[in-house]
Amino acid sequence: MRFCVAIDGPAAAGKGTISRAVAAHFGLAHLDTGLLYRAVGMKGGDPVAAARSLSSEDLARPDLRSMAAGEAASRVAVIPEVRAALVAFQREFAQREGGAVLDGRDIGTVICPEADVKLFVTASPEVRAGRRFAETGEGTFAEVLEQVRARDARDMGRADAPLRPAEDAVILDTSDLSIDAAVARACDLIAARRG
Ligand code: DC
Repeated sequence: MRFCVAIDGPAAAGKGTISRAVAAHFGLAHLDTGLLYRAVGMKGGDPVAAARSLSSEDLARPDLRSMAAGEAASRVAVIPEVRAALVAFQREFAQREGGAVLDGRDIGTVICPEADVKLFVTASPEVRAGRRFAETGEGTFAEVLEQVRARDARDMGRADAPLRPAEDAVILDTSDLSIDAAVARACDLIAARRG
């Protein structure tokens, strides 16, 4: 069966944690599409050429989770040719036999507009910066908050596939939810659609 769950949302809202947990719970394959953009951003050189030649080694770099990689990803993600080069891989993944969960910024709007379930996971900028700061220990809280706000502005403001909830997405605000509560809510929503 091809069952597709699209999970979008801004940086550090909890979508990665929720996506991994629901994929494990329902036995679905999981693709963190942010990693593709991070790998392109960190490869250096011409980003379009990097996106067209992305390899499994590029995706295995140990530094892809750093703040620098997130920043680099957000910058290359505004380039339409970079986005176009990554579409086929994501759509093929979404069509996997057995079903898939994809998380990113444009999964419910552009990559899988026909997804069976669409979640938009969000939280206030302050809560997201607090989580990112605790997780990475990089910089000060004020610097991380500044970066979160700048990244939101870039991801939401770009012309091609901007970050926004699909019209039929369920909004899951995790500002006041524990990880367990957010995962439980996501699992309930998916179970209801899966029947
Ligand atoms: O989810 P993340 O923090 O790993 O994503 C890093 C950047 O990559 C994000 O700021 C914007 C870009 N991105 C995107 O434009 N589209 C996606 N589907 C996933 C990520």
